[in-house]
Amino acid sequence: MKTLLLKSHRSDIQKAGELLKNGGLVGIPTETVYGLAADAGNGAAVAEIFRAKGRPMDNPLIVHISRMAQLEGLISVFPEKARQLAAAFWPGPLTIILPKKEGVPDEVTAGLDTVAVRFPAHPVARAIIEAAGCPLAAPSANSSGKPSPTTAMHVMDDMNGKIAAVVDGGDCGVGVESTVITLATEPPRLLRPGGITPEELEAIIGPVEIDPAVTHQLAEGQQAASPGMKYKHYSPEADVILVKGSAAQYAAYVNAHKGDDVYAMCFTEDAGLLDVPVVPYGDAEHPETQAHLLFECLRKLDEMGAKTVYAHCPAETGVGLAVYNRILRAAGFEVIDCTEG
Ligand code: TXA
Ligand code: MG
Repeated sequence: MKTLLLKSHRSDIQKAGELLKNGGLVGIPTETVYGLAADAGNGAAVAEIFRAKGRPMDNPLIVHISRMAQLEGLISVFPEKARQLAAAFWPGPLTIILPKKEGVPDEVTAGLDTVAVRFPAHPVARAIIEAAGCPLAAPSANSSGKPSPTTAMHVMDDMNGKIAAVVDGGDCGVGVESTVITLATEPPRLLRPGGITPEELEAIIGPVEIDPAVTHQLAEGQQAASPGMKYKHYSPEADVILVKGSAAQYAAYVNAHKGDDVYAMCFTEDAGLLDVPVVPYGDAEHPETQAHLLFECLRKLDEMGAKTVYAHCPAETGVGLAVYNRILRAAGFEVIDCTEG
């Protein structure tokens, strides 16, 4: 299959809409990461997403809408707290899990009785949903296990020849996937941290539990509230190791372990402390800058031929929690603590 690289002008968006209406798969820009979209009402088209990504069928997808009226066909109840969150954060990088309406294909929800819904803020994403004329099911547009794509070229790298088209809408602002919260249980529970922080959620709806899988590895056989959390994720070919400690402690550790194809993924201001090649991923004090660069840096390290990458651990507060959650998975939970001694 030849994969078209489309632009974000009107006629190309119409083209993308036509391809989606006809059951095709299209890579689309959103404010978080690029998504791999199909008509959410077409189970056979949605099944193709799993094939293109090599994604396990038991990992459900997010349905993207461009108007609130589309919720009607997707969810069976719209609780007050969901209304409040939608009013506060939609359109935006928040995914809300709610009891699903009968008729949402099992391919979308992996057979669960809930469905994940998001109203993206990106104008091109919304224009494509409008052009398709239906809600779009879309996971991140990477091959399963790889870092999520934040540019159209990343999508091409993973999906060229496997999908109908990619729409280039520039690079993604947030850079990590949406925050996922379930309101299918009480109290509400954060399943995946993202651009909307726990503090921001609690300011609107009160206490939110943080699922243990956000910051800890699930034990063998333990049930994941969000199936996506159990898989190794976001990982480049290189072996990523997360190092905790001050800038000086981090640099001392990395410099003592330098060798062939050893790289440092550090904060911009600390680059000068390191004796190995560095790929800076934002400012220590500004987690939004880390989120914006993280996946691109992981892909870049592979291009550079890195075999071992020591990543400096971010602070786990605000958007930093999302950055920490993603790096922890990229590292397969391998963490070195240099804070003592
Ligand atoms: O920002 C994003 O969320 C991007 C863009 C494209 O919107 N999408 C994305 O999709 O990251 P994906 O498939 O990579 O991640 C969806 C996550 C997975 O961890 C999945 O297990 C979880 O949401 N999920 C989806 N439906 C669910 C459900 N009904 N119950 C629990 N978890 C669910
Ligand atoms: Mg993903």
